[in-house]
Amino acid sequence: MKVVYFLVAFLALASSIAFAYDPSPLQDFCVAVNENNGVFVNGKFCKDPKLVKAEDFFTHVEPGNTSNKLGSKVTPVTVTEIAGLNTLGISLVRIDYAPKGLNPPHTHPRGTEILIVVEGTLNVGFVASNQNNNTLFTKVLNKGDVFVFPIGLIHFQLNVGNVNAIAIAGLSSQNPGVITIANALFGSTPLISSEVLTKAFQVNKNVIQNLEKQFL
Ligand SMILES: *[C@@H]1O[C@H](CO)[C@@H](O)[C@H](O)[C@H]1NC(C)=O
Ligand SMILES: *[C@@H]1O[C@H](CO)[C@@H](O)[C@H](O)[C@H]1NC(C)=O
Repeated sequence: MKVVYFLVAFLALASSIAFAYDPSPLQDFCVAVNENNGVFVNGKFCKDPKLVKAEDFFTHVEPGNTSNKLGSKVTPVTVTEIAGLNTLGISLVRIDYAPKGLNPPHTHPRGTEILIVVEGTLNVGFVASNQNNNTLFTKVLNKGDVFVFPIGLIHFQLNVGNVNAIAIAGLSSQNPGVITIANALFGSTPLISSEVLTKAFQVNKNVIQNLEKQFL
């Protein structure tokens, strides 16, 4: 029995090292270059270190335009924006919120997020998985407050103040990815069959069609 527990613990540890985070770099840096010679790599090819410049590690971020249906704008700074982030397992986003603006429920399949409120007041939360009874962990954050959204869990932020809000968040991947729940389920291409969605949500077809119309 003890041997089995040991094996399970070992496998859990090994797989968390192998799959849960971006791999540790084996060199100082590996500035991404777009090579397309047919070989698959988990990440991007490295630029010749002799050709690397300070600019490879630099970008500039402007306030996001929140004039949209949700009243929020996420500005990512990932390996796409800074090639020098390749293999480093980290990125950030700036999020701007108009009054009542929402960063809607979404998940990052490859990164934990740590968020600091720079301006304003946000109601934030994440929902634990089924094995933890989908418990909601939620809090109102003011300027200077910091909150963590664990990898893979569905989370959101709502500006509950009367003025604009700003947050900065670090993410534990060069490319954390994002799945916006409403868009993924009701705005997929092609649409998921209504038989699946009506049964999953226990509502009739009109309700599903109405939701789908929001994402045309
Ligand atoms: C913000 O976006 C809106 C809607 O797309 C656009 O009309 C407006 O000009 C933009 N504002 C700025 C400052 O870019
Ligand atoms: C989830 O709910 C079950 C059944 O009510 C309970 O036994 C279990 O302790 C709960 N787990 C958590 C993490 O709340």
